[in-house]
Amino acid sequence: MAMLEVENLTIDFSGLKAVDDLSFSIEKGEIFGLIGPNGAGKTTTFNMISGTFKPTSGKVFLEGRRIDGNYMYQNNQLGIARTYQNINLFKNITILENILIGQHSRLSCGLFSALFHPPKYYKEEKKAVEKARNILEFVGLKQKEDSIASALSYGEQRLLEIARALASDPTLLLLDEPAAGMNPTEKESLANLVTRIRERGITVLLVEHDMKFVMGITERICVLNYGKRIALGTPAEVQANPEVIEAYLGRGD
Ligand SMILES: Nc1ncnc2c1ncn2[C@@H]1O[C@H](COP(=O)(O)OP(=O)(O)O)[C@@H](O)[C@H]1O
Ligand SMILES: [Mg+2]
Repeated sequence: MAMLEVENLTIDFSGLKAVDDLSFSIEKGEIFGLIGPNGAGKTTTFNMISGTFKPTSGKVFLEGRRIDGNYMYQNNQLGIARTYQNINLFKNITILENILIGQHSRLSCGLFSALFHPPKYYKEEKKAVEKARNILEFVGLKQKEDSIASALSYGEQRLLEIARALASDPTLLLLDEPAAGMNPTEKESLANLVTRIRERGITVLLVEHDMKFVMGITERICVLNYGKRIALGTPAEVQANPEVIEAYLGRGD
């Protein structure tokens, strides 16, 4: 069974079909790229998969279970985590605290515990901190756990966003332009991180504007232009597709 199945997904923003009859499916354990020029509908597709937007029509299935129209928190509990194209961190708290917030949807203690702090709360809290530190180590930010998020470089903030998404134990991770604003060295270590995320058994859907970045790490790529799918295939197939070349050159990207 596919990890994610997108079927005839369409969204209409008062007459503008930002995503138009889009279908693709992602296998478990795959690193799948969704690319296309600016405004092609990549983030909007993400928003419909994660639960931010309800599609006008079409369906989304996560491991066979229909999820379109769900709220984001529901999809997060089902195993979908995401990062944002525009960095979306809590800037004035520490890095460790940012991760602890990401883990919240997975803690079994409810509001009562959070307010009255019974022993179980402290035990869970301790486990949560330990796990957060492991994740920070995994993404390479362990040394900075006590820094305030806004003190991080742009590239480090992107890593922190990924770490926070990982804290909810996703089975499907959606990354929206994680390489944007990174220098070549940071991009290289990001590519390495994405590969290691997949090695943990997490399926990755990567939205990228930068075609070069995705070529090296994805198994398959879907190309969008004006909301429509114009190609789907291996990086080599997609790169050689005249319509794809035209879409990128035609817009001067
Ligand atoms: N909430 C919204 N309301 C109206 N139009 C939107 C909204 N979000 C995105 N769009 C439009 O949908 C199109 C696709 O946008 P987007 O998905 O952000 O593109 P991409 O991520 O590929 O750059 C654009 O024309 C954009 O202006
Ligand atoms: Mg976008």
